[in-house]
Amino acid sequence: MCGIVGYNGTRKAVPILIDSLKRLEYRGYDSAGIAIFNEGKVEVHKDEGKIASLEKTLPDIPGNVGIGHTRWATHGRPNKVNAHPHTSGNISVVHNGIIENYQQLREKLTRSGYQFSSETDTEALAHLVNHYYKNDLVDAVILALNDIKGSYAIAVLCGNQLVAARKDSPLVIGVGENENFIASDIPAILKYTRKMIFLDDMEIAYVAPDKISFFDTSKRPIEKTMKVIDWDMEAAEKSGYEHFMLKEIHEQPKALHETFAGRISELEGAIAFDGLKEEQVRDINRISIIACGTSYNAGLLGKYLFEQLAGIHADVEIASEFRYSHSSPGSLVIGISQSGETADTLAALREAKTFGGRSLAITNIMGSTITRDVDNSIYMRSGPEIGVAATKTFMSQLGVLYLLALYFGKGKGKVSSDRMKRMLVSLRQIPAQITRILGNKESIKKYADKYSSASDIFFIGRTLNYPIALEGALKLKEISYIHAEGYAAGELKHGPLALITKSTPVIAIATKGLTYDKMVNNIKEVKAREAPVIAIVDEKDSEIEKYVDAVIRVPATDDILSPMLSTVVVQLLSYYTAKARSCPIDQPRNLAKSVTVE
Ligand code: G6P
Repeated sequence: MCGIVGYNGTRKAVPILIDSLKRLEYRGYDSAGIAIFNEGKVEVHKDEGKIASLEKTLPDIPGNVGIGHTRWATHGRPNKVNAHPHTSGNISVVHNGIIENYQQLREKLTRSGYQFSSETDTEALAHLVNHYYKNDLVDAVILALNDIKGSYAIAVLCGNQLVAARKDSPLVIGVGENENFIASDIPAILKYTRKMIFLDDMEIAYVAPDKISFFDTSKRPIEKTMKVIDWDMEAAEKSGYEHFMLKEIHEQPKALHETFAGRISELEGAIAFDGLKEEQVRDINRISIIACGTSYNAGLLGKYLFEQLAGIHADVEIASEFRYSHSSPGSLVIGISQSGETADTLAALREAKTFGGRSLAITNIMGSTITRDVDNSIYMRSGPEIGVAATKTFMSQLGVLYLLALYFGKGKGKVSSDRMKRMLVSLRQIPAQITRILGNKESIKKYADKYSSASDIFFIGRTLNYPIALEGALKLKEISYIHAEGYAAGELKHGPLALITKSTPVIAIATKGLTYDKMVNNIKEVKAREAPVIAIVDEKDSEIEKYVDAVIRVPATDDILSPMLSTVVVQLLSYYTAKARSCPIDQPRNLAKSVTVE
């Protein structure tokens, strides 16, 4: 859950490493460090806190090769001593992942005379590489990795030699002209190159300025394919927005447009996905969706969609729970993960696959680990998302799930050609309707400002709107630090109503649909407890305003599609509430965008 970078080339390494690390801060930001080979020796600089505080302490170092790290603490407190790189003799190591047997290694290495100065698992790896080093860095890294249990993406510096390796944590090698790069993900180095090689598990890369050699763990050379990434650099910059989150909320029309591109023909009423065949759909009798965090909330909407549109029973499981539930999954398992690297989701998917069904991943990252573990992958095509709080990737996940549920519905004979055409026309209009909501953001901000001093806020919804209530509450709590609950509105009376008072604002998602009338009743229930209620309703709704304190209107669409529009409102409410409270919106405390530990 940390970010690692490496550079070997002809330019000064420090500015490139620092710039790349700043783009990885979403992965962790409690301490940072670099190691640079300069004038015949390696210089290490580390500091507690964000990259900017490390940057302030750095002298001018001309060296052209180095490694860097931004940390999200797992083993050992976030302080300068525990910050990476960790060193042993001439070896410096940065690491993302967890070494599970580090305690045993630590004892063994201590007995061999190595002294530990930090509480981290990574220091054991530095000593191990040093222990095995006899003039060939690749040999030493391979021997050290053989002794390790756990997950890792590492970069190792020894003199001017740079080696990288991975297992269960992401790592990409950027290919430049007389310079090459290592990073935990693409946006970190997109400014320098679009040519990327994705390292697979148990592969080692020797990275020189003019050549990259790849090996397996027996040191047999491997041929790797280079991919050219079509994300542009602007996508990884704030482009005038105060926060990545706000920019990414605004990028949702574009993200959805990309999600749909080439997959929809509204004229023919057809949907197509690369690699998915309609005959496969006939055998699906139950779907299990596995995901964490925001992806779980998308999965919950997916459950309703598969059931309502395709008549296929679907379960949605929190990945970290599914692993130990001993329940057998459906004949199709869908893993949803924007990063494709979430350890809990990967582990649960592997567990589910032992039952023998088909598996499908919905992810945003080309070549990510999840794509290698499944039979089919569907890319979300959201472009890079930097803010820790997922926004546009959630929207693209919804986009994929709508298409998939309609596709399955057609395959199962549950969605007629006419219905399909109408739905696809409405889906195509969603990006423009989102743009209209964004044009109304100042009025949404007004409500956020008004209730930003609340201590508790409830988001309520029913059926398709319930996952959006969960997502609204998740967004709000993670970036504004206000306690927020997402509740199925019908469930309030079974407990949480006891918490509703005149100081508990309630955001009620009440767009038209199957349960609209019941939702009106639920709104009356909270109003009877004097809660201030903001209702998210269709633009044509003239009923709810009689009962609530404020309404936020979204454009009218097919009832089943309105969750995509309500999503934008709850995102903006959360964003502006966090802004009113001066919170560090893009990097909320204790959280990281990609969680590669279980
Ligand atoms: C972290 C992020 C969340 C994200 C979750 C799952 O907790 O902070 O925003 O929803 O991981 O991530 P994934 O990459 O699997 O979608």
